[in-house]
Amino acid sequence: MSKQLILALSKGRILQETLPLLAQAGVEPAEDLGSSRKLIFDTNLAQVKLVVIRAVDVPTYVQMGAADLGIAGKDVLLEHGAAGFYEPLDLEIARCRLMTAGPVGARPTHARRRVATKFVNVARRYYAEQGIQAEVVKLYGAMELAPLMNLADEIVDIVDTGNTLRANGMEPREMIDEISTRLVVNKAAMTMKHQQLKPLIERLEQAVVARRVA
Ligand code: ATP
Ligand code: PRP
Repeated sequence: MSKQLILALSKGRILQETLPLLAQAGVEPAEDLGSSRKLIFDTNLAQVKLVVIRAVDVPTYVQMGAADLGIAGKDVLLEHGAAGFYEPLDLEIARCRLMTAGPVGARPTHARRRVATKFVNVARRYYAEQGIQAEVVKLYGAMELAPLMNLADEIVDIVDTGNTLRANGMEPREMIDEISTRLVVNKAAMTMKHQQLKPLIERLEQAVVARRVA
């Protein structure tokens, strides 16, 4: 009998871009994900189920083996740490940059820079690598507000068009990493369920290539 595969999807921004790739790879939810309060969904494939969870929870589900595979932003993966899973495929969607940013024209004056972000691990690592002393303040959203309210000198956040920064009198400073959405696979599942996983990963890879040339 074929083994069950659980695929954890990030809800929110990534989900709408993920579904066409999954469809192209031959995986379609049995019902509309958007209009249901359910969290676990059957698909057209008897052996594949989807769970739709907060993006930040995807690496935890995959690391612990509650899900065999997951789809999440590289930003979330960098913040969580990569133990327990492989990252075999860049889905090339939801591209953006993880950057430092601050008020236009301002240069941080504090010897110890105050940095507001939801990516506290990434920020601590980045400033340590730069040899900059930083006090990292955890926020859960609207990071752009922090320098305006004197809560921080600088932020670490996602930048795409730069509109959010501009609208708040801020400018990008240093790039920390290029971000896109990745497929992650539980390490044990990669061995134990290799026969089921391999064709699915290959079909997803083909879907990424097809989207690239479209
Ligand atoms: P939650 O709503 O659960 O707090 P979130 O706000 O972190 O999650 P989304 O805004 O849905 O999540 O974004 C999900 C992912 O999309 C991010 O982890 C990142 O990889 C990517 N992303 C975020 N903002 C942008 C953007 N402006 N442009 C492109 N991709 C983005
Ligand atoms: C993301 C991110 C930035 C914005 C950057 O926020 O946190 O605020 O997008 O995109 P831009 O450079 O194109 O303006 P999002 O809209 O997802 O809101 P939230 O994360 O605060 O929920």
